[in-house]
Amino acid sequence: TRRVRTRDLIAAKQRGERWPMLTAYDQYTASIFDQAGIPVLLVGDSAANNVFGHETTLPVTVDELLPLVRAVVRATRHSLVVGDLPFGSYEEGPTQAVRTAVRFMKEGGCHAVKLEGGRRCAAQIAAIAAAGIPVMAHIGFTPQSEHAIGGYLVQGRGDAAGDVLADARAVTEAGAFAVVLEMVPGEVAKQITHELPIPTIGIGAGPDTDAQVLVWQDMAGLRPGRAPRFVKRYADLAGVLAEATRRFADEVRGGEFPAAEHTF
Ligand code: KIV
Ligand code: NA
Repeated sequence: TRRVRTRDLIAAKQRGERWPMLTAYDQYTASIFDQAGIPVLLVGDSAANNVFGHETTLPVTVDELLPLVRAVVRATRHSLVVGDLPFGSYEEGPTQAVRTAVRFMKEGGCHAVKLEGGRRCAAQIAAIAAAGIPVMAHIGFTPQSEHAIGGYLVQGRGDAAGDVLADARAVTEAGAFAVVLEMVPGEVAKQITHELPIPTIGIGAGPDTDAQVLVWQDMAGLRPGRAPRFVKRYADLAGVLAEATRRFADEVRGGEFPAAEHTF
């Protein structure tokens, strides 16, 4: 079967079909997710945390993300691959945003880009869409603005619900093909999902969005430590890998590996 297109995602919304999305940063995991039928993979700027070991997403650069985008595109045949525009690569305005988005499409080979911000980035979204590049928006809690927001905080509680709704309308009007809703109350996400013609993708936004996204290392239990409330761990990869590593180390130290069958 062919690669997923943005119009397939709109059609899925019209049919009332929900879909899963994951981050991916390298070939083996991307290939597994592709073959497992994940229609959309995001090469997230969360590579800053989950690949490069930074505290926040702010330090990662376009030049660091592009090789990861290429690896994920090469390893997949069905998934639509979205490249995440990092902090500093689109804030200056539509010209900078289009220049960066073009690099992601041309050098990264991805099929769409994503950026953070609602009303404040509507001009960038419109310019990228006008350049023929599908663009996914990201509103609610936006990690690149965590210092301005003042931490990892739920957005759109109480009276602030109107702000998230206004952002959702603005990105739709600007031409986004989908929108990520991060850490917003479930009721607000539900209302936005009913109102918008484009798919909503929730992370910490309750069960009523059209799609759900998680960072794959959170989903599979590779990231150590306490996970945020919105994460569900579907495996204990950290435990599996630690155990395999201990057994390898023990067998080397004990002289059991390599055995005759591993020897020329
Ligand atoms: O970079 C990322 O991982 C993201 C998703 C969580 C939406 O932006
Ligand atoms: Na991101």
